[in-house]
Amino acid sequence: MRSKIVAGNWKMNKNLEETEALLAELSAKLPDTNAEVMVAPTYVNLNNAVRHLESSKIEVIAQNMHFAESGAYTGEISADMLLNIGIDTVIIGHSERRAYFGETDEILAKKVSAALKKGMRVMFCFGEELEDRKSGNHFKVVESQLKNALFSLEASEWSKIILAYEPVWAIGTGETASPEQAQEMHAFIRKTIMEAYDTSVATNISILYGGSVKPGNAEEIFSKPDVDGGLIGGASLIADDFIAIIKAI
Ligand code: PGA
Repeated sequence: MRSKIVAGNWKMNKNLEETEALLAELSAKLPDTNAEVMVAPTYVNLNNAVRHLESSKIEVIAQNMHFAESGAYTGEISADMLLNIGIDTVIIGHSERRAYFGETDEILAKKVSAALKKGMRVMFCFGEELEDRKSGNHFKVVESQLKNALFSLEASEWSKIILAYEPVWAIGTGETASPEQAQEMHAFIRKTIMEAYDTSVATNISILYGGSVKPGNAEEIFSKPDVDGGLIGGASLIADDFIAIIKAI
């Protein structure tokens, strides 16, 4: 059975004191839930966040990693470095990495395989841009993003994958895909995976929705049968909002 997941992507926000304060508030207010709850603080605060949440149900995950094991890659972080501080889940392919840091499907495929090789879990992000949706190409774009980065994986490796469908036009814009648009795309993603693999892989994969999820719209989005949770940006930086979104699941 696939898990329900609510993950907060803090992006380049919160210094050390702010990180500790937000984690303390989240831990104190965390409701009883069957969903997995995750937060992705910035790199410099990851180690501290892991220590801070040692006795909490909240999991600390990373926003990105490099595909190489180690070496001359100034400014980069490896899977081993994350594992070493107790982090075993990493976000790969966020649209901001694709748009501002030149991460192509080919680079992302290498990152996914490097993370899996180390036994890490991958939260793989993908989604179409506004022009793709306007021109009716959104299904095609999403299918090719999945194919290029993930479809050479073995069926067994999919147990380590979490998908996060994030239409680029809905990220940080206040514009959310309607619950029907989210469901339509999530059902398409599941069907595409079923055709490439089998029913078991398709049924067991958690597919999160991301893009301007807020306390006011979370419940309706999460109520859709193929939406297994959310990847939350802006609203995850405010404890009460993130807690309300967790309650919505
Ligand atoms: P947002 O970001 O919730 O601020 O739209 C979502 C994301 O980028 O993962």
